[in-house]
Amino acid sequence: MPSEIITPSPPKYLQQEETLSQESKHLISTLPKEKGWLASNLYQYQGFWYPVRHLQGVISCQKHFQSQNSDILLVTTPKSGTTWLKAIIFALVNRKRHPIAKNHPLITNNPHDLVPFLEINLYVDNQIPDIESFQSPRIFSTHLPHISLPESIKNNSPSKIVYLCRNPKDTFVSLWHFSNKLRPKEMGTNSINEVFDKYCKGISIFGPFWDHVLDYWKQSKENSDKVIFLKFEEIKEQPGIHLRRLAGFLGCPFSEDEENEGLVEEILKMCSFDNLSSLEVNMNGKLSSGEENKAFFRRGEIGDWKNYLDDEMVEKFDQISEEKFTGSGLVL
Ligand code: A3P
Repeated sequence: MPSEIITPSPPKYLQQEETLSQESKHLISTLPKEKGWLASNLYQYQGFWYPVRHLQGVISCQKHFQSQNSDILLVTTPKSGTTWLKAIIFALVNRKRHPIAKNHPLITNNPHDLVPFLEINLYVDNQIPDIESFQSPRIFSTHLPHISLPESIKNNSPSKIVYLCRNPKDTFVSLWHFSNKLRPKEMGTNSINEVFDKYCKGISIFGPFWDHVLDYWKQSKENSDKVIFLKFEEIKEQPGIHLRRLAGFLGCPFSEDEENEGLVEEILKMCSFDNLSSLEVNMNGKLSSGEENKAFFRRGEIGDWKNYLDDEMVEKFDQISEEKFTGSGLVL
C-alpha cells in the first residue's frame, strides 16, 4: 500500500480564505482585494487593509468586545515597537504584583503572550473569549485604526489608549524584513520595490500607515486624558522621561521611594532590546499563531532605513508625509 503523504498545515498567520466562516466569506466577497505581502490577499474594510484571518477577528471584536473603565489599550501600527511597548506597560502597570526579579513573567514569556491582541489573538477564529475574568487593569493591544475600534472603547471615557508610532521609513523597512521572515520559503523574498509601491498606496497590513497615525494624533489632541501619543524615536532617546509620562497618564506615577530605588531604570533595562532579545523564550519560542518569537527582534534602532531606501524612495516617503501631515502639527 503506498504510504500516505501528509502535507503539514501552514502556520495560522498564513491562513487563506477557504478556512473562513460562511458569513466572513460573504463579507469579503464584497470588499476591495489586493495581493498581500505574505501568502493571502489583503481586503479593504472601513478604509484599511487586512489579511483574511485578521479581518474576521476585527469584525468579531467590533461585535463582542465590552470595555471596562480600567482597561488599557495599546495601539500601534505594525512594526512600530509593539513588542517593546507591551513589555514596558506590562512591567509598569504590574510592578506591585510582579516586582522586577529573576522570576518576572517577562523573563519566561514573550510580551505578545502577556498582552494579547484583540483581533489577532482573542477574537480570532470566531472565538468569543472570556475576558471578564482578566485581572484588572486589563491590558489589551490592537493594530486597529481609530475608525474601526469597538464602540465601547471609543465611548468609555475613563479607559485609556496608548498609541505608539514610528518614522514611516523605519517602519516600512522593518515590515519588509518581517514579511520576508514570515513568507513561505518557496515564495522567496518580497521585492522591496514592489512592496514599497504598495506601502505608498496604503496597501499594507493595517495600512494606510499615514491615515492610521494621523487619526490617533488628532484623537490625542482632542482628548488628551484618553489618548497618549508616543513615538518610538522619542522613547529611544529619552526613555526615562517617557516612562514617567506614561505612568502619570495611566494613573500610576512613580513614588519617591520607587524613584530612589531606581525602578524606572530597572524597568527600562529589563525591557531593553538587548535584554529581551537574548532571553531563551525570545530566541527559541513560538507564538500560538505560529510566528517565531525571534522574528519580533531584529535591530531595534533608529535610521536603519538608510541602508535600504534609495533617494527616490526617500523623496516619495517625504512627499507623502508632507501631503498627509501638513497643518496637523505632526512630524515623523
Ligand atoms: P527593526 O525591524 O527595525 O529592528 P513590533 O514589535 O511592532 O512588531 O516592531 C518590531 C520592531 O521593534 C523591530 O524593529 C524590532 O527589532 C523592534 N524592537 C523589538 N523589541 C524592541 C525593544 N525592546 N527595544 C527597541 N526596539 C525593539
